[in-house]
Amino acid sequence: MSDSHHTIEALFDEGRVFPPPPEVASRAVVSSDAIYTEATEDPDAFWADLASRLEWRRTWDTVLDWSKAPFAKWFVGGKLNVTESCLDRHLAERGDRVAYYWEGEPGDRRVITYAELHAEVCRLANALAELGVHKGDRVAIYMGMVPEMPVALLACARLGAPHSVVFGGFSADSLADRINDAAAKVLITCDGAWRGGSVVPLKEMADDALSRTPSIEHVVVVRRTESSVAMTPRRDVWYHDVVPRQSPERPATECDSEDMLYLLYTSGTTAKPKGIVHTCGGYLVHAAASHSMVFDLRPEDDVYWCTADIGWVTGHSYVVYGPLANGATSVIYEGAPQFPDKDRFWDVVERYKVTLFYTAPTSIRTFMKWGDDFVSRHDLSSLRIIGTVGEPINPEAWMWYRSVVGGDRCPIVDTWWQTETGGFMISPLPGVTTTKPGSATIPLPGISADVVDEQGRSVPLGQGGYLVITRPWPSMLRGIYGDDDRFVETYWRRFSRPEENVWVYFAGDGAKRDEDGYYWLLGRVDDVMNVSGHRISTLEVESALVDHPAVAEAAVVGRDDQQTGQAIAAFVTLRGSRTGDEDLILELREHVATKIGKIARPASIVFTDELPKTRSGKIMRRLLRDISEQRKFGDVTTLANEAVVHEIAERARAMRPADS
Ligand code: PRX
Repeated sequence: MSDSHHTIEALFDEGRVFPPPPEVASRAVVSSDAIYTEATEDPDAFWADLASRLEWRRTWDTVLDWSKAPFAKWFVGGKLNVTESCLDRHLAERGDRVAYYWEGEPGDRRVITYAELHAEVCRLANALAELGVHKGDRVAIYMGMVPEMPVALLACARLGAPHSVVFGGFSADSLADRINDAAAKVLITCDGAWRGGSVVPLKEMADDALSRTPSIEHVVVVRRTESSVAMTPRRDVWYHDVVPRQSPERPATECDSEDMLYLLYTSGTTAKPKGIVHTCGGYLVHAAASHSMVFDLRPEDDVYWCTADIGWVTGHSYVVYGPLANGATSVIYEGAPQFPDKDRFWDVVERYKVTLFYTAPTSIRTFMKWGDDFVSRHDLSSLRIIGTVGEPINPEAWMWYRSVVGGDRCPIVDTWWQTETGGFMISPLPGVTTTKPGSATIPLPGISADVVDEQGRSVPLGQGGYLVITRPWPSMLRGIYGDDDRFVETYWRRFSRPEENVWVYFAGDGAKRDEDGYYWLLGRVDDVMNVSGHRISTLEVESALVDHPAVAEAAVVGRDDQQTGQAIAAFVTLRGSRTGDEDLILELREHVATKIGKIARPASIVFTDELPKTRSGKIMRRLLRDISEQRKFGDVTTLANEAVVHEIAERARAMRPADS
């Protein structure tokens, strides 16, 4: 990141910081920075006020119970069903408002009002109930971005049955692992999904997974691509056979504030993904409030488009729960940004007159590469706020986004958060925060963050360290499904002082704070890579590689990449007589795609006779990163086999990196 900082300094020298435009500031949802002080002075009152904007069957007795830290309870004693806030409460006065403008990749369109969405959610909830889904049962969802996808999440929520969405780009193996970890009872999927003009065979992959998922009793299949699929009698049913005949009413199941709303698996520092647990009350409070504040949402006027897939947390919080709780009108686009041409996104923005747009830095860099013309041939004057999420955004991409997409007019909200945090944590408020290109600015009201050194001491402004959160927040993860020890170990052990009852959440990111207290995110400090905004663990890829019969050992690192943020670089030693050639590279990349998903395919694979290890046998990833990024090696004195580093570096230079 050092290069970016030089650039930032240059930008500052030119005075390039961006105060909130007066037309935004004068009528923003949050128009005064007094909210930060209010939230700090009385956090309980602050969160209670936000919670009171939702529909509750019974009001909570206590805002926060932190007595069993780090296991939190929020809005204790409160009863609700999140779908009553997201759907029912809109019916009387705004049932005809559009909830989703949906556009399929081939160009087909659907407009779904709140009343229609409510009816469809009830129908699917009735169908799921008929298939034996009860409160507390887990339901897996493995779908493309069709309107039935948000319907599926909400139908589960209607029944109090936690959903576990598995991104449609994950492989059969990944799906099977997640289904088994959650012991899901029902799977909702599609025949296939459209992506870049071809069909992703979701049902076929699901069938592969289902050969080893004993807990699944039924599969509901949405017809989308008309591809021919196998239907297993008694287990599989078509959505169109079981849903339309149901009643469009279904009373919502009353849930406790702390009942599980969903599970979402994410990569950590081990080979096994973690099931992140989110609960009903606190999660919805923060998802709704943060969406409203950060996007300065005016539900009657705005058309909001978050381009994330619902398979990721961004889709959960900011395509489904937050926007619907706020009565927003959203766009959902099914497919790839370059289909049929590289201006598809801007065509969508123009046609639906999108006012609030939210995407990832990796997409922004891709658009930059494709050239301004694809953007400027469209009228984007409807846009008023544009956002970014998923990885650090380099100042160049930020400036391009601001001027070419945002017409030098729209505030940028760079939102730092995680699957675990459930909602935005560090982000500008467009009506009050002066932005700097590349900085996520400051923690939101009610969120207490810090940057600390190895010993957990707050570092002075101007210095870097580990990003931590020092106070609980309502949408915080409640645990890792079935693994309390790992939850405490992963997030709380490193910087907390339990004997003093001080609990500090370790995010896994490095950050620097500048002299103004602005946060600059520096990327992960653990063995998690961020490839195009997707979290992938080095260990997951390593274990996928060693699963191949030709591979003896593998080491994987994330190397800097202009386009994807990081790219996966693999170093592999082979068994027996197998030689490392182009064919084997292709085979290994495919093998990783089959084990995890295409997003995890290494961009480069280097074969070597040995991996660089310390004398105690630990692989020295730091050196491999140096090699991958063609830097001079760091300290090699602890190496058991120094010569090997030079040999690998030779080979890496000779290799042409494979296309990702
Ligand atoms: O490293 C940070 C990066 O993405 C990680 C969280 O990934 P995930 O749980 O998949 O959630 C992604 C969407 C919320 C973080 O630990 N990250 C996310 N947003 C930003 C970011 N890094 C820098 N700036 C951001 N705005």
